[in-house]
Amino acid sequence: MEKIVPHELPHVYTDGRTLYTHNLVPGQSVYGEKLVPHIDIEYRAWNPKRSKLAAFILKGCGTFPFEKNSKVLYLGAATGTTASHISDIVTEGMVYCVELSPIPFRKLVPLCETRADMTPLLADANNPEGYEQLVGEVDVVYQDIAQRNQVEIFVKNLRFLKDRGTAYLMVKARSIDVAKDPEEVYDSVKEQIIGGGLNVIESSDLLPYEKDHMAIVGVAMSSDAIVH
Ligand SMILES: C[S@@+](CC[C@H](N)C(=O)[O-])C[C@H]1O[C@@H](n2cnc3c(N)ncnc32)[C@H](O)[C@@H]1O
Repeated sequence: MEKIVPHELPHVYTDGRTLYTHNLVPGQSVYGEKLVPHIDIEYRAWNPKRSKLAAFILKGCGTFPFEKNSKVLYLGAATGTTASHISDIVTEGMVYCVELSPIPFRKLVPLCETRADMTPLLADANNPEGYEQLVGEVDVVYQDIAQRNQVEIFVKNLRFLKDRGTAYLMVKARSIDVAKDPEEVYDSVKEQIIGGGLNVIESSDLLPYEKDHMAIVGVAMSSDAIVH
């Protein structure tokens, strides 16, 4: 096996093929991923077919603002696959995990009980008022919700983003319009995001890991510019 070394993005590791994070809870495999012990730490393999953020990193993502004390609003957390890797990084911060469906939420809760930097929120991201008091201002908004109105949901939740904060939208084109060319969908999504007050700084399709998906990253221009 190749040696695991730091990736060019902070707090991410690689053996040249597979990505890893430092496991915050040694011995815990969240979704069947491989654990690799190394002296006094443990690496946890980060599967790009299970996590769009890992797929985006392998596609050359250049924006990675996750730091030890970052606060992250994660919309569409499901059972916590990607959120757990972010939790491995933001150990002194918080990942607020919003999930609508009670079925994945039942698995998310015990995971969050093992990780002090993850808070589970059973809520509809269409109604951010429901978790406004709890969440407050965050450094990063990350959304992976396959709904027709996913962009509307994203823009609504930009109210939580601090000035100069970073927001990631994992777009599923076919959920927005099954008949339209995904490229047209992405152009329209970008326009809506810019209209919502974000400066789009990078984007990438997620092939070969996900078909008809695009990761879009933006930075909040100023709190005044964000339309609620
Ligand atoms: C593609 S899965 C997310 C996978 C997850 N992000 C990961 O990488 O581990 C999308 C999730 O969004 C949730 N979802 C759909 N609509 C939502 C809404 N309005 N508010 C919150 N979560 C929602 C679904 O229940 C589903 O669990």
